[in-house]
Amino acid sequence: MTISLVEVAGANFRTDEKSDKLNDEFMKRLGMRKRYLPARLAISRSLAVSAPVDLMGEETDPGKAIKGDTLFGTGTGLSVWLGLIAERSADPEMDLKKLIALVGAHWRRGLVQLDKEWEQAGQDLSKFVERIVEVADLRTGQGKPISLGGVEAAATYSNGRIEVQIGEIGEDTSTKEKIVWTMNGLGSSPHSAIMGGVGSGKTRTAVSMLRSIRGQGPVPLLAFDFKGDLGTDAKGGGYHIDELFDARVLEPPRMPIPLDVLSITSNSEIDVAEAASRFRESFSRLKGSRLGDRQRTALHEAASRAISEERPCELRHIRDTLVAYYEDHEMKEDGAISTIQEICRFPLFQPTYSPADFFKQSWIVKLPPNVAEDSRTIVVNLVLDALDQYLNSLVDADTSPDGARGLRILCVVDEAHQILGSKLPSLANLIRMSRSKGGAVMLISQSPDDFSGEDDEFLSEMGLVAAFSTNAPPKNATRILGKGANLGALQTGQCLVKRRGDQAAKRVKAW
Ligand SMILES: Nc1ncnc2c1ncn2[C@@H]1O[C@H](COP(=O)(O)OP(=O)(O)O)[C@@H](O)[C@H]1O
Ligand SMILES: [Mg+2]
Repeated sequence: MTISLVEVAGANFRTDEKSDKLNDEFMKRLGMRKRYLPARLAISRSLAVSAPVDLMGEETDPGKAIKGDTLFGTGTGLSVWLGLIAERSADPEMDLKKLIALVGAHWRRGLVQLDKEWEQAGQDLSKFVERIVEVADLRTGQGKPISLGGVEAAATYSNGRIEVQIGEIGEDTSTKEKIVWTMNGLGSSPHSAIMGGVGSGKTRTAVSMLRSIRGQGPVPLLAFDFKGDLGTDAKGGGYHIDELFDARVLEPPRMPIPLDVLSITSNSEIDVAEAASRFRESFSRLKGSRLGDRQRTALHEAASRAISEERPCELRHIRDTLVAYYEDHEMKEDGAISTIQEICRFPLFQPTYSPADFFKQSWIVKLPPNVAEDSRTIVVNLVLDALDQYLNSLVDADTSPDGARGLRILCVVDEAHQILGSKLPSLANLIRMSRSKGGAVMLISQSPDDFSGEDDEFLSEMGLVAAFSTNAPPKNATRILGKGANLGALQTGQCLVKRRGDQAAKRVKAW
């Protein structure tokens, strides 16, 4: 075989023009943004067929070219593709020209095959993927197809119990015993709430706990930072959480969040309708939106249409479909329209990463008070919605023999009162549902009041509550921490700590 990897990497590959159109069609169907992605899928689909492939006639119109290193990658990836194609052709005299012809032919045959399977799946993305997974025989030992997110995306990042000391000192003020919280223990809740007045040591204690957790497993972090002191600031100050978690700091709208935030796992009617409802709920929390029945219908309709038709769907698509809906129904522009125009003024999101790829990295989303309130609310709501959706699409996180649940992601909201006032449906959902999926939420806020939503009692879902000194009315403090809890009497660095299962709160010196 006289062919070099360098030659293949630099060569142009193409199929015929008609198949190229089908390739474009598959980009839309599968929500892919690169031409080479359906091409790869098609070539591998054809390679899974053992019959020899018919080469294309000379007379066919050629499609657009893709360069070898784009189509097949480089290095090992390229070698494997080449090996598979050569193996299938069984032609000992392979050269570049023959390879180009073979690739074009496999590409075409694969697309035809995929198109058939797409129709057989009733144009339903999840059914289609199931079928492809079956063909590829990518099944686990139990004969269960792997999840859409892939094995790696669903990984957990811890093994065994995660023991977290409460703050840098973490000592019971009377008994001097170390107070440790087992955040992922059998039957416990991995979520925590830390509260206290300004400067009481909430963030400092949270950071010390995060450091401890990260030391026990490389779990990724998603942090919302309303104050702006979690990362490293321009002067080298701040809590340096970005360094600890290898996190990227995002500052929307100056830097859009690189997440395909409205993505759905399938284009089935139910999934689209659910996604539209979730969007509407998040949107209805915005100050200016004030949705009446007509607006709610309009928004649901517009969101459904945009979500099912656009891949990836962005906020501006929903804005456009909503404006069109208003025109079609001769509705006057109102708060809903001006609010969606307002949040689309600057792109808050950019669909670079799928949820699976986004949530395995660490991020600090900075949302200081100078960012418009509606933008902050919609960012938090949509990201948390996407996280909730993503986690729920995964199989339950593994448990170790001692019953400890593996962690997949840590989600921290610092100065949560900035948004808790707007009653986040997505946060409530995440706190209720994510435990078995390896999600852990840490809420840091000023007053115990911030955690008691109208219909969601966050605090009852918490595995740990720590309260530093505040002027909170005693009623709220006692409701959470038990009778006799007096948050006004705490000294600097001290907090009352109640872990799930504790009879009474303990007074702990955290720092
Ligand atoms: N990077 C830091 N490391 C240690 N202590 C800090 C750091 N930054 C601030 N402090 C001090 O720790 C105390 C608690 O601060 P912090 O936890 O940020 O308060 P808050 O409760 O408002 O989040 C303050 O006295 C503050 O001066
Ligand atoms: Mg703070």
